[in-house]
Amino acid sequence: MCGIVAATARREVSEILLEGLRRLEYRGYDSAGMALIDNEQRLQLHKYQGKVSALEEAQSLNPILGCTGIAHTRWATHGQPSAANAHPHISRQRIAIVHNGIIENHAELREDLREAGYEFVSATDTEVIVHLLHRFVHEGKDLLGAMQATVARLEGAYALAATDVEHPDQVVAARSGSPLVVGVGIGENFLASDTLALRQVTDRFIYLEEADVVVCSAAGLAIYDGAGEPVQREMKRVSGDVEDADLGDYEHYMLKEIYEQPHALAATFAKASAGDVDASVFGDGAAEVFAQTQAVQIVACGTSYHAGLVARYWLEDIAGVPCQVEVASEFRYRKRVSHPNTLLVTVSQSGETADTLAALRFAAPEEFIASLVIANVDNSSLVRESDLAFLTRAGMEIGVASTKAFTTQLVAFLMLALALGKERGLSVERQQCLKEGLRDLPDLVKQTLKIDAAIEDMSAAFIQKHHALFLGRGIQYPIAMEGALKLKEISYIHAEAYPAGELKHGPLALVDADMPVVAVAPNDELLDKLKSNLEEVRSRGGELYVFADKDAGFTDEPGVHVLAMPHAPEVLQPVIYTVALQLLSYHVALQKGTDVDKPRNLAKSVTVE
Ligand code: G6P
Repeated sequence: MCGIVAATARREVSEILLEGLRRLEYRGYDSAGMALIDNEQRLQLHKYQGKVSALEEAQSLNPILGCTGIAHTRWATHGQPSAANAHPHISRQRIAIVHNGIIENHAELREDLREAGYEFVSATDTEVIVHLLHRFVHEGKDLLGAMQATVARLEGAYALAATDVEHPDQVVAARSGSPLVVGVGIGENFLASDTLALRQVTDRFIYLEEADVVVCSAAGLAIYDGAGEPVQREMKRVSGDVEDADLGDYEHYMLKEIYEQPHALAATFAKASAGDVDASVFGDGAAEVFAQTQAVQIVACGTSYHAGLVARYWLEDIAGVPCQVEVASEFRYRKRVSHPNTLLVTVSQSGETADTLAALRFAAPEEFIASLVIANVDNSSLVRESDLAFLTRAGMEIGVASTKAFTTQLVAFLMLALALGKERGLSVERQQCLKEGLRDLPDLVKQTLKIDAAIEDMSAAFIQKHHALFLGRGIQYPIAMEGALKLKEISYIHAEAYPAGELKHGPLALVDADMPVVAVAPNDELLDKLKSNLEEVRSRGGELYVFADKDAGFTDEPGVHVLAMPHAPEVLQPVIYTVALQLLSYHVALQKGTDVDKPRNLAKSVTVE
C-alpha cells in the first residue's frame, strides 16, 4: 500500500528518498514519484507509473537535487495507476504533497476548490489536499497553520507530508488513521510510513499519534496535537530486523520466509520463559483479565483471519472458552451482542490494518473486558492501542503473501489456549503435552521443508489450470482456506476451500479433470469421513492431490497423487500442512512466472478501508 518518505537536511537528499522508496517496495504499489526543492527554491518533480526503477532511471538521466524533499509509492484507490495520478501532487508550482489514505469528502472539496479557480489534473482524492494547503498559505497562513486548517476540512484517513517552496527548509506532515513515523537524525529529520524506509539514516523514531501535525526542518521538530497544542512524543530506539530485508541466497522473500519458519516458531515460543506458558507472556495485567474471561472474540483480516479460525478450535477444545471469529471489515459495521466478559483479540502481522484497527477503536468500552493484540510489529498502532499485546517473533516479513507471520500467530494462539486453559482447569498432563508439542514444532517444520522437491514436482500439474478446490475437515478446513488463499494471491489461479463434508452441497458440480482438488488429510479422527468425500471426487473423474500423513493409508494411483507428510501430533498438524501448502503455491507461481513477492493489485499492509 502507499508508502511515504520525506527528508529535510543540510545535505542533498534525493538518494535517501530513493533508497527509502526501494525499502517500501515490499508494501505493494503501482507508481512512484518524488519532489525536491532545489537550491534556487524551485520545485522539481519526477513521477512515473511502474516501479521505483523507472524513477531511478529518470533520476540518472535528469537528476533533481535538493536538501528538502518528499517521495511516494502509490497503490491506486481513486483513479487508475498512471503518471498523472502518481504522487507527489503539486499546486501552482508552490506546494507539493504525498498522501496515504482515502479522503471521503473529496468530491465536495473538489467543487469548492474548482469554484475558487483551482484546476485539477488527476483523478485522485489527494489533489484536493494540495490545493487546500495552497489556498491557506496563499491567504497568509504559515505552513503549520495551513496544514492544521487543511486537515480540519478532511474526512477519512490520511498520512501526509508536504513542502512549500516559500519555506524550502521545512516539511510539514500530519496523520490520522494511517501510520507515519518521524526519523530523528543529527542536523536532519525524516518522515516515513514505516521505520524500515529510514533505517538507512537513523535508529531513533517518534511514532506520531492520531491527529498530530509536525513541522520538521534540519534544525529540529515541533509536534502539535489535534487541539493544536505543542506536545512532546516519546522517542524510541529501534534495533534489529534490518538484516531481514536481505534476500541472502534465496530467489524470493517468500521462499526465504517459508524457510525461516523453524527459527521464527522457536523464537516465538521462547517468549515463554523455560517453556512455561502463563498469562504473563501476554502483558502486565493479563492474569487478572484471563481469570475473568468467559468468551473470546477474534477479529482480523486476510491470512491473520485464518489464524483466528484455527484458534477457535484450540480455544474451545483446550481452554473450553466459547470463541467467535470474524473478518474486521464486517465486524466493525455490525450491531453486535457479546457474551459477558468477552476478551477481544485482534490479530495482525503489520499491526496497522485499517479495518482491524477500526474494529478495536470502535468497540464500545462495555462490550469487552479487555483487548489483546497478536501482532508482529512492535509500536504498531494496534500494539499501542490495545490493553494487552503478544508480539510474535517472525522477524520482518516482506513477501506480500504472509507465511511465517501466520505460523507464528498459530504458536501465539496455542500459547493463549494454554494460558486460558490453565485458568479453567486444564489437566497438567495436557498442559505438558502441549508444551512438548510447541517445543518439537520447529523440528517437525524442518522435516516438512525436506519434502520441498516432491511438492515442486507436484506443482507442475497446476500451472495450466484456472481453478482449484481445497478440502479439509475440522481444524484443517481453515488450513485449506489458507492454502487456497496463498494459491490465488501469488499464482492468480482461482482457488476455493470447502469443508469436505459440504462437497455434495454444491462444489461437486464443478469437479472434472480440469479442476485439481487438493486435500489436507492428516491421520486424525475425521480421516475416514474425508476418505469417503475424496472417493466422491474420484468417481467423478476429479484429480486428487492429497497431502496425507504417512500412515493415513493413501497410495499413488491414477488420479490420486499423494504427498507423504511427516507424522505429527494432532495439535501441530495445522502448522505443518500450512507449510506444505505454502510451498505448493510458491512453486506454482514460480513456474507461472508471476511476481511472487509483489503480486499484482495486492499490498502488504492495508492501511485504507
Ligand atoms: C493484506 C496482506 C495479507 C494479510 C492481510 C492482513 O491483505 O496482503 O498477507 O494477511 O493484509 O494483514 P495484517 O497485517 O493485519 O495481518
